[in-house]
Amino acid sequence: MSLSLNDIDLLEDTWAKEVPYDQFDLLRREAPAHWHEHPEFTGFWAVTRYDDVRAISRDHTTFSTELGSTFLVDHEPEALELIRMTLLNMDPPKHSRYRRLVSAGFTPRMINRLVDHIGEKAAAIIAGIEGRDEVEFVEEVAAELPLQVICEMIGVPNEDRHLVFDWSNRLVGFQDEDFRTSEEDGQIAAAEIYAYCDAIVADRLENPRDDIMTALVQAEVDGDRLSKEELNMFFVLLCVAGNETTRNLIAHSLQVLLERPDVMADLAANIDDDELWSSATEEFLRWGAAIHNFRRTATVDTVVGGQEIKAGEKVVIYYAAANRDPEHFADPDTFDPRRQGNDHLTFGGGGAHFCLGANLARAEIKVMVREFVRRFPNVAADGPHKRMRSDFVNGIKHLPVKLNG
Ligand code: HEM
Repeated sequence: MSLSLNDIDLLEDTWAKEVPYDQFDLLRREAPAHWHEHPEFTGFWAVTRYDDVRAISRDHTTFSTELGSTFLVDHEPEALELIRMTLLNMDPPKHSRYRRLVSAGFTPRMINRLVDHIGEKAAAIIAGIEGRDEVEFVEEVAAELPLQVICEMIGVPNEDRHLVFDWSNRLVGFQDEDFRTSEEDGQIAAAEIYAYCDAIVADRLENPRDDIMTALVQAEVDGDRLSKEELNMFFVLLCVAGNETTRNLIAHSLQVLLERPDVMADLAANIDDDELWSSATEEFLRWGAAIHNFRRTATVDTVVGGQEIKAGEKVVIYYAAANRDPEHFADPDTFDPRRQGNDHLTFGGGGAHFCLGANLARAEIKVMVREFVRRFPNVAADGPHKRMRSDFVNGIKHLPVKLNG
């Protein structure tokens, strides 16, 4: 039976099963801005064409992240006030002042310094599973590198990294019963992470170092130091943004190689072809878009994909849908590690909020997948993988593999 617009459902139960590419095909063709009800919160316009997702990302004047936050949910005024302390949920010019504070930690010099360590860290992760027959790829491999790197950046000691792993799972996995242990657990995780951040802040005030938290503690915006809440929210954003996304992208990358032994064999045979591994990494990114969507609120009456949108209405942009738009990509449903000019929107459409960690994430994905394929070219699936139930993060919870086939 063919799909109709009445069947469209982009909420968490759908994503628990699969990325709904069939729904996106229909939407891009027939309703590029489609009204989607939400059972608990305000409904929204789902936007799926490449050009529209890109244009909305670039127009923060018409499409605000600050008015109603980037998540699919509505917030009580108090919670919204806190959420607006994260970069993603600020509009320029305020956004530009805060982004400048953290961007010092993401200059090419800082990233190159981290990239030098990434190879060593990836080698240690591979050495840690050497001699085993089976591993749980997500937790034992994919999660490790992003976790170690973000902890180094924000100054969390390596032995505490599993705390960060656990907090970000509980904060992002609130729709998935494997991560959420009780109704209040998300709030408890937030309280724990704030307390941890407060201790780091106190330490950096006494003992400044060359890390992002020291820069934030010393920073001033309009003559004022950042408040405790602002520091907490920066810390949470960096922990989650630098961790969940890259982990899932590494897991999706291995998943597509397991499904496409021909591509695995090609990449393994050309393991030292740096150009091929760079284009393959962009294709991993196009394929495995780690965030499903971000929401905007229209500030004025406008038009998207021929559809009139009223001021105050919610607009949700779907990155995976844009990445498979046949008007933009030739043969979009084929994974092609040699694809050229691959301007996917996995890190956003290039506007004010474009991902700060894009080059870091690129480097991590390339090194981790490459070193894994170099060492275990005959890796095979060891049972089905499990997806996360989330309408926000494109998560893989479990990916059991046999290292030597
Ligand atoms: C594969 C991994 C990643 C993906 C798919 C990803 C994706 C995204 C997306 C879609 C946005 C919003 C873009 C927009 O609205 O135009 C974003 C923003 C952001 N990302 Fe990433 N990200 C990744 C890794 C990272 C890493 C490793 C870090 C930090 C270490 C990071 C830090 C941030 C920050 C701070 C923002 C907010 C920027 C702002 O609002 O100005 N991300 N990311």
